[in-house]
Amino acid sequence: MNLKTLINNNKKQFDKKFKSLLNKKLDKSILSKAMYYGCFNGGKRLRPFLVMESAKIANLSKSEAFVIASSIECIHSYSLIHDDLPSMDNDDFRRGKLSTHKKFNEATAILAGDALHDMAFELISGSLINNNYKSKLRLINYLSHCIGHKGLALGQSLDLEFENKKLSKNKILNMYSRKTGKLFEYSFSAPFILKVKSESDIRFAREFGMLFGQIFQVIDDLIDEIGTFKKIGKTPGKDVEQGKSTLLGLIGERQIISFCKNKVNYFTNKHKKRFYKNPQLIKLLEFGIKRIN
Ligand code: IPE
Ligand code: IPE
Ligand code: MG
Ligand code: MG
Ligand code: MG
Repeated sequence: MNLKTLINNNKKQFDKKFKSLLNKKLDKSILSKAMYYGCFNGGKRLRPFLVMESAKIANLSKSEAFVIASSIECIHSYSLIHDDLPSMDNDDFRRGKLSTHKKFNEATAILAGDALHDMAFELISGSLINNNYKSKLRLINYLSHCIGHKGLALGQSLDLEFENKKLSKNKILNMYSRKTGKLFEYSFSAPFILKVKSESDIRFAREFGMLFGQIFQVIDDLIDEIGTFKKIGKTPGKDVEQGKSTLLGLIGERQIISFCKNKVNYFTNKHKKRFYKNPQLIKLLEFGIKRIN
C-alpha cells in the first residue's frame, strides 16, 4: 500500500475515534460546538499518522498512541483557530470551510482555542494513558515546552514580528522549527518517551520529527504560493500579500526543493542503521517534500 493510502486510512480510523472521544467530553454549549468545529472541519491528520508510525517502532499500544494523537490534534486545532484570527493571519477559510471565528465569532474562537489547548492536557494526564507517572509527567512537561514560549507560541509570535522584514535563512528556519517543527518533534517522540526508551532513541525520534516539521512548513509556504483554494482549502497567495518572511521568498522554488532534499539526505546518511531498520521513515520524509496539499 502506498503512503498516501496509509495516511488516508489512518485519518479515517483516527477521525472516527476522535469524534467519539470528543463527543463524550463536549456538550451543547456554543463553546463546545466551536471546539468541535475547529477539530472536525477537515484536516489531514498527519501528526496522528506520525504518532502511529512512531508507536509501532516504540511498541506503544494503539489505544495509548490514539490518546496522544488526539491531544496533539487538540493543540494543532487550537493553533489553527488562533492562527486564522483577524489579529494574526486574518484568514476567512480553513480546510475549505469558514474559519472558526467566521462561523461563530471572534471571542468564541479565542475561547475555543484556549479550551482545546486545555483539553490536550486533560487527555494526556488522564486515565486513558498508562500509569507510569514518571514517564507521563515527562511527557506533559515536554509538551508544555514544545508549545509554549520557546515553542509553538514563540514561533507564531516571530512569524508576526518577521512580517515585511528581510531576514537570514537561519532566523526563518528557527521560526519554522518553533511554530511547526516542535509539535511534529513531540508527535514522533512522545511514544518513545512514554515507553521509556533510551535517550539516544528519544533524541533520534525528536530529530526526525523536527526535520519532518521544518520541511512541512517549507512546503506549506510553497503550497500557499502555487496551490488553489480547492486543493488547499485555505486562501492561496496570502503569505506574499501579508509580507510573510518565508524561505521560499528568500531563495526561490527550485532552491527550496533541493534544500529539503539535502537536509533529508544528510539526516538519512547520518542515521543509516536506523533507516535501514525502518525504511518507511525515508518514504515519510520524501512524502513531506512531494506533498501538494
Ligand atoms: C497547517 O497544518 C499549519 C501548518 C503548520 C503549516 P496542516 O497542513 O497539517 O493542517 P491540516 O490539519 O491538515 O488542516
Ligand atoms: C501556521 O503556519 C503554523 C501554526 C498554526 C502553528 P501558517 O500560518 O503558514 O499556516 P496556514 O498556512 O495558515 O495553515
Ligand atoms: Mg501563520
Ligand atoms: Mg496562517
Ligand atoms: Mg501557510
